[in-house]
Amino acid sequence: MKDKLKVLDKKIQEAHLGGGADRLEKQHAKGKLSARERVQLLMDQNSFEEIGMMVTHRTKDFGMGKQIFYGDGVITGYGTVHGRLVYVFAQDFTVFGGSLSETHAEKICKIMDLALQNGAPLIGLNDSGGARIQEGVRSLGGYADIFYRNVKASGVIPQISAIMGPCAGGAVYSPAMTDFTIMVENTSYMFVTGPNVVKTVTNEVVSAEELGGASTHSTKSGVTHISSMNDVDCINNIKQLLSYMPQNFKEKTAKLAYDLGDETRNALKDIIPENANQPYDMRDVVDGIVDEGSFFEIHENYAENIIVGFARIAGRSVGIVGNQPMALAGCLDVDSSKKGARFVRTCDCFNIPLMVLVDVPGFLPGTNQEWNGIITNGAKLLFAFSEATVPRVTLITRKAYGGAYDVMNSKHIGADMNFAWPSAEIAVMGAKGASEIIFRKEIKAAKDPAKKLLEKEKEYASKFAHPYRAAERGFVDEVILPENTRVKMIKAFAMLENKVAHLPDKKHGNIPL
Ligand code: HXC
Repeated sequence: MKDKLKVLDKKIQEAHLGGGADRLEKQHAKGKLSARERVQLLMDQNSFEEIGMMVTHRTKDFGMGKQIFYGDGVITGYGTVHGRLVYVFAQDFTVFGGSLSETHAEKICKIMDLALQNGAPLIGLNDSGGARIQEGVRSLGGYADIFYRNVKASGVIPQISAIMGPCAGGAVYSPAMTDFTIMVENTSYMFVTGPNVVKTVTNEVVSAEELGGASTHSTKSGVTHISSMNDVDCINNIKQLLSYMPQNFKEKTAKLAYDLGDETRNALKDIIPENANQPYDMRDVVDGIVDEGSFFEIHENYAENIIVGFARIAGRSVGIVGNQPMALAGCLDVDSSKKGARFVRTCDCFNIPLMVLVDVPGFLPGTNQEWNGIITNGAKLLFAFSEATVPRVTLITRKAYGGAYDVMNSKHIGADMNFAWPSAEIAVMGAKGASEIIFRKEIKAAKDPAKKLLEKEKEYASKFAHPYRAAERGFVDEVILPENTRVKMIKAFAMLENKVAHLPDKKHGNIPL
């Protein structure tokens, strides 16, 4: 027995060495942690259980038979994060550049199956040179096996992808199909074709960082939801994200203990500027409503005219969608519609109630928007809200104009509670634009058209630039004082906690993708 224990011990030591000390040193020199260090950092202390530590590849071609590393470039297993079960795979760049072989894929698929069957989140820590070149189609097939499982698991368990090194070629499609992608600045990149191919095909010269680094994907493409400063920050972001999510679609989100106190928030009183065209930061409204310090923004630097993120209200997880007057005056456009729609659907599939903050002058006009499909893209947001069955509460802080009023979680598309501040203006359009159209002849005929326009604007505003017509019809349930908003939200979400709503029986809806 003693000899057998020695053999086991030796094998475990070998597995822990990965691709060897020199390769690990290189990994550290780049500012990256090793796969094992990442897993340890993610999991609660001593909770990680590894599966398949001694798996090896089966390739004999290209002298591969002599290069065997236990684990075959990926660490897989399960453990807990904040006491809750999660499954994880972490690619080990020190073994063949973390490249994906048939057996490497089998290991990932095994824990994906376990995660799905046991209803717990799946975390992928990606750091890989892509398909194991020596294996050809077996490796490509391995990727497809993973993609297929990503799709099956979508909407059942939360799937989070961290990109902590290279992720190129078709490999990018697994993270793209998970719920969240988090990238590490300066050490990770994602692209379908790298800079060399780009140069050959299009003659463009671009660096890997510029083409597909964290900054590019968190600002320009929106491929990544969160950009992290380094590996430690990335792991912390994963943990924080998990804290707002349920284990699977059948569970309600975690609720932290919260003792109610004086929930009046006077800071909300002075946020709306006197001048209706002056911007303010919708994040200040969020901060005034949610539990202190609980707002965790997603897609922070992408499509900044809408803000989305998670927070807690009296301990309950909520998803927040809000127009941002600081960017494009809060207009909806192609990117913000896509960003909002995706977030609404993520919250809806994981039972996370939605709080929607509205200050929207309408959809952004222009050829750029029309030619890029603002019609189908705006429809995504409308569709996403309309089919969401989670508790949905809206607050109109200022403008709710035109189609955008309907889209932004209006009563008409199924919102449960709709509040408005006295500063709300609910109308087909702003007073100036409306007056120019409906009083055109009268203004033209006036001695002083500019004066007449102002007069008409005032008349129009007195009729529509307030929330009371909507309140009279019940489209707004209550006009509330800003300082009471947190109290109202706490009560509304508590009241809606056991909401049950079903869509008509169907295979699935056909969102305009
Ligand atoms: C086998 C690989 C590998 C791969 C890297 N290695 N990528 N082995 N298959 N795909 C090995 C290298 O040979 C090297 O081994 C070690 O990993 C580290 O690689 P380096 O090149 O030394 O590291 P670095 O300089 O950091 O460069 C990293 C890299 C580069 C940019 C990722 O390795 C690279 O370009 N690799 C190939 C990327 C690629 O074209 N992959 C296929 C993409 S297409 P030694 O023994 O020397 O240390 C694809 C299709 C997926 O993935 C389709 C899904 C549908």
